[in-house]
Amino acid sequence: AIERTFSIVKPDAVSKNLIGAIYNRFESAGLRIVAAKMIHMSAEQAGGFYAEHKERPFYNALVTFMTSGPVMVQVLEGEDAIRRNREIMGATNPADALAGTLRSCFAESIDRNAVHGSDAPASAAREIAYFFSDDEICPRA
Ligand code: CMP
Repeated sequence: AIERTFSIVKPDAVSKNLIGAIYNRFESAGLRIVAAKMIHMSAEQAGGFYAEHKERPFYNALVTFMTSGPVMVQVLEGEDAIRRNREIMGATNPADALAGTLRSCFAESIDRNAVHGSDAPASAAREIAYFFSDDEICPRA
């Protein structure tokens, strides 16, 4: 089915000038960017986005990293978009990511891992709504 998923190009990848390279991977895989913007998140914004990780030991470092510089947030649309984006990204820890995936090519560590992508339909819907209003999303033919 045609789905939407939420994606972030994280501060490490933006600072390495990799926005276009990463967008090219999405588009080459048949995903359409139907909304996008650059933002520099506040601690409140990043903390709320990652609220499910609040009790994890890496939470504070995650919020600090995600607010360390600008990110690109985008909505990707396409067939099986949630799973397809996760395949393009590779495993959360770049040491475990398959060759050719975004994290294998562009990430240094599990903390600075270049991209985020929704893991399920419910989180995709929540994450899209967290950053985008309906009128910022442009459905594509
Ligand atoms: P992301 O998909 O953005 O969701 C939460 C982030 O926490 C994750 O990517 C990683 O960058 C980071 N993180 C750091 N340590 C861990 C860990 N042990 N397990 C999962 N995520 C971690």
